[in-house]
Amino acid sequence: MIRHLLSGADLDADTATQILDTAAEMAAVSGREVKKLPALRGRTVVNLFYEDSTRTRISFEAAAKRLSADVINFSAKGSSVAKGESLKDTALTLQAMGADAVVVRHPASGAPHRLADWVDGSVVNAGDGTHEHPTQALLDAYTMRSRLGRLAGLSVAVVGDVLHSRVARSNVLLLSTLGAKVTLVGPPTLIPLDIAAALAPGTDVCYDLDAVLPSADVVMMLRVQRERMGDSYFPSAREYARRYGLDGSRMARLPEHAIVMHPGPMNRGMEITPEVADSPRSTIVEQVANGVSVRMAVLYLLLGGNNR
Ligand code: NCD
Repeated sequence: MIRHLLSGADLDADTATQILDTAAEMAAVSGREVKKLPALRGRTVVNLFYEDSTRTRISFEAAAKRLSADVINFSAKGSSVAKGESLKDTALTLQAMGADAVVVRHPASGAPHRLADWVDGSVVNAGDGTHEHPTQALLDAYTMRSRLGRLAGLSVAVVGDVLHSRVARSNVLLLSTLGAKVTLVGPPTLIPLDIAAALAPGTDVCYDLDAVLPSADVVMMLRVQRERMGDSYFPSAREYARRYGLDGSRMARLPEHAIVMHPGPMNRGMEITPEVADSPRSTIVEQVANGVSVRMAVLYLLLGGNNR
């Protein structure tokens, strides 16, 4: 097993499949009345969040607690980071406290990689800038596999603000490793020119959402990340929704078995309408539940739970 999980590219097909299979076993535990396993008793997991998060932070906390680890939640607000303490000094503090795993979210792309040089424990990237979010890609893959029965050969359309999306990057890397075919869809201003070839050969780019819908098994809608947009990338929210938003009539063009995903948080009415988000095809709530099982599997396997 790998020591850190920093990128979707850290996972080969065997390792990714082992994580998904272990997550399925963890899901069985989450269905019990007592949702706890003793696997990580006595180990310490630190959640180090320098950027806002709802789902990911709560999900990692629930995952570590269900494995009986001691959990320390650290958020940049209210800590010495607000006094200007550097990431390195914070890392050395965590090291001194004996953290076995550090789960980190940071606005700077690459911060988890630096952290991995400074601590002895495992580092899990919970989202770094516009770069990567590998556990989101794993929970998305888990959700596709459990809804559609396989990953190899699936056509997955990843739609919207690809430029700012760490979810898209990690998904392209992981899905192509697992044999799915990814098409990036969005306005040309929000799809970096060389991204498809740079991430994974075989990834397609298409600027016409209506053209990809009839052959998609999965449509993954991305949030339009206005907080990361200094300039204007499209004429107006209305225009964006008209061309790239998923509404009921577009959803009707999908094959019958196709599913609609979104990592959250959603801009309802912009990239996705409530009618679609709340429809039976939508896996949005399932993705959140699966996130706990997948993160349990990641922490368990990284911390050596399988050889203890
Ligand atoms: C995403 C993130 O923070 O990268 N959300 C998440 O982790 N569920 C996507 C987003 O912010 O749009």
